[in-house]
Amino acid sequence: MKPLTFFLVSFLLVLSLFSHPDHTDQIPHWQKATGWPDRIITTFSDDPATTISVTWRTDSSVGRTIAEIALATADARFDIQGQVYRAKTEHVDLEHMVTEDGERHSLYNIGIGPVHYHSIVFEDLEPDTLYAFRVQGARGKWSEWFQVQTAAKNGPVQFVYFGDSQNGVRPNWSRVIRMANQKVPTANFFLHAGDLVAKADSDYNWAEWFDAGGFIHVQTPVIPVPGNHENMRVWTDGPDGPTVRSRTTMWEPQFTLPVEEDLPKTLHENAYDIRYNEDLHVFVVDSARFEFEDQAKWLDKGLSETDAKWTVVTMHHPFFTPKAWDTRDIDDVRRKAIAPIVSKHEVDLVLTGHIHTYGRSSAHVDTEQTSRLAEGEAYDVKTVYVISASGAKSTLLSNEEQLAAVAGDRKPDMKEIALERIGLNTPMFQVIKIDGDILKYEARDATGTLYDEFTIVQDETGNKQLTNGAAAFGDTRLFSNTGKYREWWDMR
Ligand SMILES: [Fe+2]
Repeated sequence: MKPLTFFLVSFLLVLSLFSHPDHTDQIPHWQKATGWPDRIITTFSDDPATTISVTWRTDSSVGRTIAEIALATADARFDIQGQVYRAKTEHVDLEHMVTEDGERHSLYNIGIGPVHYHSIVFEDLEPDTLYAFRVQGARGKWSEWFQVQTAAKNGPVQFVYFGDSQNGVRPNWSRVIRMANQKVPTANFFLHAGDLVAKADSDYNWAEWFDAGGFIHVQTPVIPVPGNHENMRVWTDGPDGPTVRSRTTMWEPQFTLPVEEDLPKTLHENAYDIRYNEDLHVFVVDSARFEFEDQAKWLDKGLSETDAKWTVVTMHHPFFTPKAWDTRDIDDVRRKAIAPIVSKHEVDLVLTGHIHTYGRSSAHVDTEQTSRLAEGEAYDVKTVYVISASGAKSTLLSNEEQLAAVAGDRKPDMKEIALERIGLNTPMFQVIKIDGDILKYEARDATGTLYDEFTIVQDETGNKQLTNGAAAFGDTRLFSNTGKYREWWDMR
């Protein structure tokens, strides 16, 4: 073959590969929807003591389907007692997504047909009881039986909190969630503080997230928090026109979550609260959207009314970063609206992500307080703010920024807050245990090693004292003293 002909044939061959209209042969088996149920996940949409909410996916050939629940007993055939429930089914067109801001064609899902998401809320359950359930796809195509414990009305609670998983979710993040499961197999729930995936319109990205967690997402209920990557910026009138935040159409079908009637419709299933039990109340704020006044009002009311001993606010964006104050408009609006409510109610923990570093700060009662003190010394504290990332994307800080963060420089406009511990180049997960008057916090890296720890003791009037554990005083992990880092583009 002449060189020119060879070049032309090769060129046409390569072109035909890229322009082939059918991409379905590129879809991995762990992404493809079939008649079998997959992407099964347990969430809270009502009282965790008496309900279990489950969502799953099939291809669009599966219309009406069912789920079954039974008391999990030691009997070999516990399943004979299974009770059948009819599921709700939602049709989702992955290529032509219809959002609150109109229709948009997804470039991520070419060649992927519509799918069906099914959901069920098992109701009238007994608190603190182990149940087994299974879900069906097409007739006779059942999942395995999963066992989930309903919440006890009171007593100890333990949960795991993850910052952004976001990039390299299947190849790299899987080890983090699996290590969390190995360390805390009996956690009551796993909380994901936003940016679960990088491209929330991409079915492939969600396939990664579900495959990485596998059955962990089912047997340990999930509290998902929307981040900026779940609320994409879209242009309403060409690339120079105004932009709006448009939530991915995959969020609501995938997760069965509470609807707060007091909030605008755009926030339904995105901002919500979970009263886990007598002691713990979790409030999820959607920090990636603009309705901060509505959310501030709702949060203020919820925090005023709750009588839970411990309150947690979780939102994707922090009020500040170890690097510098975030001064972009949306962040300023968010901070002005939400931060005063958190301070007013002295929320115990604020769990966030977005920055792709680890940072733990405290709002001290004594604003001249030297942060951290010595190991074992207690100090009065109002709120602990945490930023964390569980994925392999890590923000590079300059040397000066790292030193300023290590020095714990206080920012002039939030003087009472001191940075206590940072960690760079280190995906992390946090284990939080509440037992009566005591809250115990641990941050662990992907190998399960403890990196940060503290305990808060609350007295009967609500005053809190924080004591740092030994791990809080370990060497600070920086880019300068840890292994080589490379941006996440090559993680597959
Ligand atoms: Fe983010």
